Amino acid sequence: MSVLFKDIKALLPSEDGGLEIGDCSVFVDGDSIASTRGVPEGMSADTVIDGRGKLLIPGLVNSHTHVYMTMFRNCADDLAFTDWLFGHILPLEDKMTAEDCYWGSLLGYMEMIATGTATSLDMFVFPETAVRAASEAGVRAVLSRGLTGGEDDRAGGARRLREARTEIEKWRGKSGLITYMLGPHAPYTCDPGYLKEAAALADELKLGISIHLAESRDEIRTVRERYGCTPAEYLDRCGILRETTVAAHCVHLTDSDIALLARRGVSVATNPVSNLKLGNGAAPVPKMLKAGINVCLGTDGAASNNTLNMFRELSFLSLIHKGAAEDARTVSAAQALRAATAGGAKALGLGGITGEIKPGLKADLAVLDLEAPWMKPHNNILSSLAYSANGSEVETVMVGGRLLMKNREFLTIDRERVLYEVDKTCRRLGLL
Ligand code: NI
Repeated sequence: MSVLFKDIKALLPSEDGGLEIGDCSVFVDGDSIASTRGVPEGMSADTVIDGRGKLLIPGLVNSHTHVYMTMFRNCADDLAFTDWLFGHILPLEDKMTAEDCYWGSLLGYMEMIATGTATSLDMFVFPETAVRAASEAGVRAVLSRGLTGGEDDRAGGARRLREARTEIEKWRGKSGLITYMLGPHAPYTCDPGYLKEAAALADELKLGISIHLAESRDEIRTVRERYGCTPAEYLDRCGILRETTVAAHCVHLTDSDIALLARRGVSVATNPVSNLKLGNGAAPVPKMLKAGINVCLGTDGAASNNTLNMFRELSFLSLIHKGAAEDARTVSAAQALRAATAGGAKALGLGGITGEIKPGLKADLAVLDLEAPWMKPHNNILSSLAYSANGSEVETVMVGGRLLMKNREFLTIDRERVLYEVDKTCRRLGLL
C-alpha cells in the first residue's frame, strides 16, 4: 500500500542537525517514507491525504511508560511517593490478572495513538500481555519486563528472569514493530547479585536495559544506607550503565553522577510531569544536555502522570526548566521536540529507523490540524508544538506505513470493547 500526504507542512530535520518546518508532499511506500517531494516517477499513490491546513510530524516516542497502568489513573493521588507506591499501587497491582493488564494496555495505546505517539518503551509485569496488546494495536513498541529480585524473594526474582528470557526468545523477530529490553526495576528493588544477573542476560541476549534511577530522595537515602554510594554509582558497579541503557527519572543526580552517565553513554528518559506530581522534583535536564547526554522524554505510567499525552509532557519539559533556572533560554522548543522524537528513537535503539521524517526511514507519522484556534496564527509552528498544542490536534496516525487512526477513528482497536472491559476490571478491583 502507498499513501501520499499531499501539500502538507512537516517537521523536518534541518541541515544543521536541528528541526525546521517545511512544505512538502510525503510519499509512503509499504512501511517506509519513500520521498518528501511527492510521488516518484513511475509510482502512484493508493491513498491521498489532503495536507492543506495540516502538519505532519514524526510519530512521537514515549521513552518511559507502564502502559497497563492506565487502570490506576486517578485512583491514588496527592500521596507521598513511598505511600503511593508501596501503600496503594503495588497492592492494587497484586490483584490484577494478565487479562486486566491486556485491557489496560489497549486503553493506553488508544490514548497514545490519539495524541500522536507511535512508539513507546513499556515496562510491564505479566508475561506476553504487553506483546499481545502492542501487536493488536499496531504500534511500535519496545517491551521490557519489570524485574525485581533480592534476598527476600530469590525464587520470585529468578522466575521473573526466566519468564523474561522465555518470552523474548519466543517473540523476538516475529514482528518488525516489537523489540525487547530487560527492565530491572530500580536500585532499591534489585540487589547487586540480581542486577548482575540481569546485566549478564542482557549481554547474552544482546538487549538494552530500561531502569528507574534516582527518582526520589528516599531512594537516595536507601541506597546510601545499603551500599554507601549514589544509585548511579551502585548501578555502575553492577554493570547496568551502558550505551544501550535507558534510565528513567534521574531527578536526584550529583554532578559526578551526570558525568558518569555521560561517560557510559546512557540515555536519560526524563518524566517531568510524574516527577512533579509525585513531589519528587525536577531532573537536572539542562546539566544533562550540557554534558552531552541523550535526553529523551517519557510520561511514566498513568498512575503517576495521569496521562500518556506526550504533548503535555513536551510543554512541561520546556517550561519547568525555564522556571527553575529563571532563564527562558533553558530547554528550547526544538530541544524538547528532539527529546520526544529522534532522541527517543536513539535511546530505544531505533535511531535511523524512526523518529524523523526522512526518505528511507519507517513511516511513523502523525497528522495534526493546524486550523485549531490555539494553533493559529502560524507565526512559529515549531514553537506551537511545544507551547500551544495539547494533543487534541492529532487527526491521523500511521505506524510502519499502516494507518492506526484516520480522522480520529481508531482502525485497529475496538474502542467500545476496551472501554467496557476497563470499567469492568475497575469495578472488580473496587476502584469504581
Ligand atoms: Ni516508571
